[in-house]
Amino acid sequence: MTRRRHLIALACATALAAPLSAQAQADTVKIGVILPMTGQSASTGKQIAAAIALFQAQNGKKAGGKTVEVLIKDDAGVADNTRRLAQELVVNDKVVALAGFGLTPLALATAPIATQSKTPMVVMAAATSAITEASPYITRTSFTLPQAAVAMGDWAPKNGIKKVVTLVTDYGPGNDAERYFADRILLNSGQVLEKLRTPLRSPDFAPVLQKVRDAKPDALFVFLPSGQGAQFMKQFGERGLDKAGIKLIGTGDITDDDQLNDMGDVALGVVTTQHYSAAHPSAMNKKFVADFQAMHKFRPNFMAVGGWDGMRLLYNGLNASKGAGNDALMAALKGQVFESPRGQILIDAQTREIVQDIYTRRVEKKDGQLWNIEFDVQKSVKDPGKQK
Ligand code: PHB
Repeated sequence: MTRRRHLIALACATALAAPLSAQAQADTVKIGVILPMTGQSASTGKQIAAAIALFQAQNGKKAGGKTVEVLIKDDAGVADNTRRLAQELVVNDKVVALAGFGLTPLALATAPIATQSKTPMVVMAAATSAITEASPYITRTSFTLPQAAVAMGDWAPKNGIKKVVTLVTDYGPGNDAERYFADRILLNSGQVLEKLRTPLRSPDFAPVLQKVRDAKPDALFVFLPSGQGAQFMKQFGERGLDKAGIKLIGTGDITDDDQLNDMGDVALGVVTTQHYSAAHPSAMNKKFVADFQAMHKFRPNFMAVGGWDGMRLLYNGLNASKGAGNDALMAALKGQVFESPRGQILIDAQTREIVQDIYTRRVEKKDGQLWNIEFDVQKSVKDPGKQK
């Protein structure tokens, strides 16, 4: 082929391809999902990406008459990456919504981009109360630490636990867990002997566990972000705190279903409060867990449910707003009520915050596996952090 003929052929091919791709473009909506797929919080990315794949396999790829294309980007848990990826997704890919956000600082770094570009942002993992106040375009399908921690502040003193030490990771959700648990247990005539913290990156639990041993509390209350529970539990057992009669309680992040089954007997009897257990006995959850395990060969945790429900929220929103634009989509996300594998959830139209049931659960062995078995529930819990 001569160069000229080659160019003509190329031009024809492009002309043919152009209207097709424009058509395909118009028939597609993109959702940009930013997750830590690598690094210290990779389990969160793995769980949420798996839940999104399951959701689309079960529900198809159409919503609001268009094909939903999910673009998953790895921020490795680093806020500068999240911010850059969010910008690229909004400006270059023209996504209709942003979603994911494995850690609080990653969600907060993206909030100004959501506000400036008027892009709805669905937080599927991060759980500091203040996140939904950082932009009018943020809503959430995870939970808030005050929701979980207050329930434990009610349960513990009614069950013989009066003197406690708290141990939390030193950032947003840890601050929330410590504050709301401590305030509640004081209100219920309990006592906080000491408040301990560990860093988010590469924590070493040995020195704090020694302090806990010396303080001799009835129980140690713990919040650690998903992914750190197994390492903590191992050291708690190795240092003999369970044998010293110190009970372990906390938010459900420490008995995370992603790791629980590998934690061993030291986890048995640990009581936690949270919004999701893979052992939740509803028909919907049984199907969710069975389908998830059939597709991915591992157990879903609370992050997976946040991802799966986030997709439901967005599909419902796209169906209701029929591609009428970002503000119409945002409006359609507010006020939704639907059944989740965790129980019924509501997106409060005023605060854009999730309202959900919070369960008290105990780790038990069933058929040779460890599960968080629910034994009490507080219904329709609003975020206590929004009721200042
Ligand atoms: C958060 O960074 O907001 C976060 C991460 C993991 C959790 C809970 C909260 O398990």
